[in-house]
Amino acid sequence: MTTLMKNLTEHREWQALAEHSHEMKHQHMRDWFSQDPQRFSRFSQKTGHLLLDYSRNLMNDQTITLLCDLANVVGLPRKIKALFEGEAVNSSENRPALHTALRDITHTPIFVDGENIAELITEAQEKMRQVVAQIHTHQWIGVTGKPIRHIVNIGIGGSYLGPMMCTQALKDFAVSDLQFHFISTIDQSHLQDVLQQIDPAATLFIISSKSFSTLETMTNAQAILTWMKDKHGPHVLEQHFIAITAASDKAEALGIPQQNIFPLWDWVGGRYSIWSAIGLPLMLMIGPAHFDEFLAGAYEMDQHFRTADFAHNIPVILGLLSIWYINFFGVAAQAIAPYSYRLRHFVPYIQQAEMESNGKCVSAKGDRIHYPTGSVIFGEEGSNGQHAYHQLLHQGQHLIPIDFILIGKTETDNDNEQQAILFASGLSQAQALMQGRIDISEPSGHQMVPGNRPSNILFLDRVNPRNLGALLALYEHKIFVQGAIWDIVSFDQWGVELGKQLLPNILRCIQEEAWVEQADSATAGMIQHYKQVKR
Ligand code: F6P
Repeated sequence: MTTLMKNLTEHREWQALAEHSHEMKHQHMRDWFSQDPQRFSRFSQKTGHLLLDYSRNLMNDQTITLLCDLANVVGLPRKIKALFEGEAVNSSENRPALHTALRDITHTPIFVDGENIAELITEAQEKMRQVVAQIHTHQWIGVTGKPIRHIVNIGIGGSYLGPMMCTQALKDFAVSDLQFHFISTIDQSHLQDVLQQIDPAATLFIISSKSFSTLETMTNAQAILTWMKDKHGPHVLEQHFIAITAASDKAEALGIPQQNIFPLWDWVGGRYSIWSAIGLPLMLMIGPAHFDEFLAGAYEMDQHFRTADFAHNIPVILGLLSIWYINFFGVAAQAIAPYSYRLRHFVPYIQQAEMESNGKCVSAKGDRIHYPTGSVIFGEEGSNGQHAYHQLLHQGQHLIPIDFILIGKTETDNDNEQQAILFASGLSQAQALMQGRIDISEPSGHQMVPGNRPSNILFLDRVNPRNLGALLALYEHKIFVQGAIWDIVSFDQWGVELGKQLLPNILRCIQEEAWVEQADSATAGMIQHYKQVKR
């Protein structure tokens, strides 16, 4: 019990890692590879159709042992159990985080406040299937009798990034010719661009918002509703608007009929909600059978995470390695490079998941903590990144670990060489980062590339629904492992709330001169400048 109450950095295991990191900083990965031909097989792990190669990291067997010791002493096994069993792991909001229940293909009963949520999930999924069938078979028609051809998702953050990224990623699995559009920001240009592309009489608008009070989403939804009513009269709601929300009363107040409202629940975080009805655009694109595969892939990863011992557990290894770099090497940023056009929106999705979850400075108990948590997540589709930011990874002064996501086969033409070139591009980057420049005799001068820069390779056989589900669940659990070690609440986002609270005041300052005087000088100065430009 006493060990559990220690501050993280006071644990013997933490101090052992600190000492070990000093030894590791004087070694070069290149030497480890030449001494040990088995390094790849010793430091790679497969589950399902996903292979993790973590051999190009600044670590050895002892590192993994020490990291696993730390995971054990802070109670990671207990915390994983608590996550899956629906304990209030979101302790600052006193609620569970049960995204794993959404993809539990065994539908095992699980209770929240005395209610079996497995039943609620099954009901919601059934409702999704029915609507998808009606739209695909053209039974669902618009007010003028046209079948639905366009789906417009109105939502932001987790109510946007997941459906947008996944519909791009799984385009090859589309079972209908529906066109998908996304409106997230409040910039009118975004709205106008989308409205120009659609036929309103053949469009279904999906208002996705857990809270149904997010400013951007509600403003866009209102604007579109007015626009639709102008075009097609007051009775457009039933045939053209769906809401996905945990605040059904607010959706009803907007006029959305009850049968068009899909549930979300407090125990699903926005950034973990793609598995819920927030995934409706994805189900509309790929159909219920593929959507089930997507859930099944995530479920398989959940099982792997729950059962594999830590040294062979892919999310645990990734989470612990990121702790290793952030807390013992001073790493502040980590890159992700998916070498797949289909996964080109993967990075912003993971960026929200990781930075919103783990950008915290108080412990689960609410005490100020003094070790780094979270990191900047950035990246770009490969090989675009190679021709942009990779220079800094190779020769810059910052240590930036990178995850390469490499793909075996695409769903299109695999006979041409392009896929091989794409794969080879990513692999050669990982090799270059690891070994540095070895083809010049003088290890200095402008061409000198030091190497010894860490990377992981996540290799997927192909980008299909099952593998995508597994990949997303893998990163979710990696983030959970980080949060569990850092003893923070990964499922709240109080920092974001502050900006939301301040915005109405700033708007007021713009509208009413008297309010400007209350603002700080930088804010007031910028408001004055804005007003001058607008005059
Ligand atoms: O940015 C904060 C946030 O609450 C995210 O966590 C969430 O995904 C997004 O806003 C959208 O929230 P909602 O689904 O309630 O509109």
